[in-house]
Amino acid sequence: VLLIHFLIVRVVYVIQSKPSSTTIVVTGATGNVGRPLVALLSAAGVHVRAVTRDPAAAGLPAEVTWIDTVQAGLTGATGLFLNSRALGADLEEAIGQAKEAGVTRLVALSALNADDDFSRQPSRFRGDRNREVERLAIESGLQWTSLRPAMFASLIADMWGPQLRVGDVVGGPYAAAAFAPIADTDIAAVAAHAFLTDDLTDRRVPLTGPQAFTNAELVAVLGDALGRSLRYREVPPDALRERMLGTGASAEFVDAYIALQAAAAEEPAVVSPDVRDVLGRPATSFATWAADHRAAFTSA
Ligand SMILES: NC(=O)c1ccc[n+]([C@@H]2O[C@H](COP(=O)([O-])OP(=O)(O)OC[C@H]3O[C@@H](n4cnc5c(N)ncnc54)[C@H](OP(=O)(O)O)[C@@H]3O)[C@@H](O)[C@H]2O)c1
Repeated sequence: VLLIHFLIVRVVYVIQSKPSSTTIVVTGATGNVGRPLVALLSAAGVHVRAVTRDPAAAGLPAEVTWIDTVQAGLTGATGLFLNSRALGADLEEAIGQAKEAGVTRLVALSALNADDDFSRQPSRFRGDRNREVERLAIESGLQWTSLRPAMFASLIADMWGPQLRVGDVVGGPYAAAAFAPIADTDIAAVAAHAFLTDDLTDRRVPLTGPQAFTNAELVAVLGDALGRSLRYREVPPDALRERMLGTGASAEFVDAYIALQAAAAEEPAVVSPDVRDVLGRPATSFATWAADHRAAFTSA
């Protein structure tokens, strides 16, 4: 009996001590997904090495080690979170160096639309490489997980916040284009799960919010959260194109953004069960996210 008791205590100790022997390098660590991921891993007892171009300005938890290049953090690391936007031209090299350094697990931040034609992936024209980050993780020979999120909820704050801070109308393309936006913190929670368990090893994981809404419906949900009567005003593609070019956006980006929205008006939005399946609780609803982010849509 004593021996069995000792073995149980020992197994529990080994399981509990796993995080403290885990060191994970997080690229894009000050960003939408990276910042909550750093917090979750750190809270789980993981040694986090967080990459930022400007550690002095990052304003991040003291228990985290802040580094200014991914290379500075790879020795002794067990996992690497890959954000292709943050890694830029260093993406391929960083994966090779991680392998040489003995990293065993890669978690890639890709996108639900990574397989779509590039002419419908606007972020590519700003340097994101969601298709490549997944492919390189798979081809690395290491344990990999590719997270494929839908539109981040934070993107709605970026796109519509400026208009809603000064008025009650959102002007944009295709009122009927549908999306199932996901709370950025849910993506981070799934990423943390991919590092802390083997559940998601060697899997592509589509990640969406719990429900799809058209652009017009998203504005209505925001209105409910803000206690305001908001309206979506559909802007014809040509007029929108001129407006976006006038803000300095490149023609390739604008055309891909309009093409993405046009496709989303034709096809039903994907809604995946994976956040619930992985985390054992429902994905955050857009209404809840909106209520938590009122400030982004409210004048100061
Ligand atoms: N937004 C969406 O709806 C959506 C949907 C699906 C997939 N994705 C994909 O998710 C990824 C973006 O993730 P995210 O929103 O978490 O990233 P993010 O917040 O935009 O950026 C993460 C961090 O990377 C650094 N960074 C940003 N731009 C950079 C640049 N041009 N060069 C070098 N470093 C840069 C910044 O950190 P420092 O300033 O601290 O260095 C930033 O905090 C992209 O691959 C995107 O395509 C986005």
